[in-house]
Amino acid sequence: MCKWELSAFLLFGLFFHVFGTIIIKELSGADKAQYGSNNTLKCEFLFKDETGVEVKWFYNDNMQIVSWIPTKNKPQAIGHFKSILDFADDNDTMKSTIRFKDLTFDLSGRYTCKVSGNENEQSETQNMVVYQPASLVEFVEEGDAESITCSAYDLFPMPNITITGSYTTGRDDPIPIIQEFDNITITDDNYYNISKVILLDKSSLNRTVVFTCNIFIPETAFNEKLNITIEIQSHETTTEYTDIYESTTSTEYIDSPTINSATLSPSKKGNFATASTIPSIFLLLTSAILLYLNSRL
Ligand SMILES: *[C@@H]1O[C@H](CO)[C@@H](O)[C@H](O)[C@H]1NC(C)=O
Ligand SMILES: *[C@@H]1O[C@H](CO)[C@@H](O)[C@H](O)[C@H]1NC(C)=O
Ligand SMILES: *[C@@H]1O[C@H](CO)[C@@H](O)[C@H](O)[C@H]1NC(C)=O
Ligand SMILES: *[C@@H]1O[C@H](CO)[C@@H](O)[C@H](O)[C@H]1NC(C)=O
Ligand SMILES: *[C@@H]1O[C@H](CO)[C@@H](O)[C@H](O)[C@H]1NC(C)=O
Ligand SMILES: *[C@@H]1O[C@H](CO)[C@@H](O)[C@H](O)[C@H]1NC(C)=O
Ligand SMILES: *[C@@H]1O[C@H](CO)[C@@H](O)[C@H](O)[C@H]1NC(C)=O
Repeated sequence: MCKWELSAFLLFGLFFHVFGTIIIKELSGADKAQYGSNNTLKCEFLFKDETGVEVKWFYNDNMQIVSWIPTKNKPQAIGHFKSILDFADDNDTMKSTIRFKDLTFDLSGRYTCKVSGNENEQSETQNMVVYQPASLVEFVEEGDAESITCSAYDLFPMPNITITGSYTTGRDDPIPIIQEFDNITITDDNYYNISKVILLDKSSLNRTVVFTCNIFIPETAFNEKLNITIEIQSHETTTEYTDIYESTTSTEYIDSPTINSATLSPSKKGNFATASTIPSIFLLLTSAILLYLNSRL
């Protein structure tokens, strides 16, 4: 209910006193919850001059799972939700808190808190997605940079994997990708193992590329990013670069089956900056001396 509606409603109630008032202040709680956790949903409300107030919770719109008459009894779970839910014992008659004891995937869905009286009725609904994060994520390079594979294991519900690449220097030319495919398998326990494979045309890769793999389960907090750097020593690179990247020329890939983000050492970049600043300082000094000498002549 928006602000003006609320004020109008209260004002109306104030002048006419004949109508009772029910307002749901807030329905709160995590809308994404991890499998096995004890998530809590809280429905806070107000009522005034209203009789027969009753609180009901519904799962997916029409399955009633809780019933409670605040002035009379304690909340009761209904049906198989008796073994799933418990309630806060705080004796607050303007708040209904339901707690899931041990979340399972089949509890994902819409939860509605409905507060009704003899004259009014208000309800609020929120989603809750139960998910399982990956037991392992990995991003590996195989066969002399011919393919890169990003994988994640034992997730639920279905994750999404994207891989994006960009050159570390120069223009944003297209990356020579020959083929790209996903491999999704379902484990014995009904979790997802997922991987994305990218086949590269290594011979056309003429500059260093950073690939970022993003694995996420839509609508949940699960979101992981991994990087892989494929370092290419091109004929175009300057001598300064050659020194630094010497140990990672393409011939080395044959012996190293996997290169992951750990090989992306920030100190390399640091050295690189110093190496390129030295000649500039040298140039500056030389020109200063030349200028000085020039002025003396
Ligand atoms: C959930 O609550 C149960 C008891 O109701 C407790 O045994 C369990 O450790 C709790 N789990 C978490 C993840 O807090
Ligand atoms: C709620 O009320 C019961 C009985 O009236 C009492 O035993 C209990 O301590 C109260 N709980 C709280 C949190 O006030
Ligand atoms: C995966 O996510 C990307 C980026 O958000 C989106 O474009 C793509 O459609 C999604 N794929 C699937 C199968 O949901
Ligand atoms: C897909 O993954 C399964 C198991 O992880 C593997 O056995 C299979 O070879 C993969 N398929 C492709 C086309 O890579
Ligand atoms: C899924 O990945 C797990 C490794 O975490 C492995 O034990 C299991 O065999 C895989 N299942 C399938 C169907 O690929
Ligand atoms: C690298 O290759 C792309 C095409 O694959 C080309 O457009 C670009 O000019 C090349 N860059 C260098 C530095 O050779
Ligand atoms: C991964 O690469 C991207 C793009 O180059 C960069 O913005 C990000 O900081 C890198 N992340 C890590 C963990 O290295």
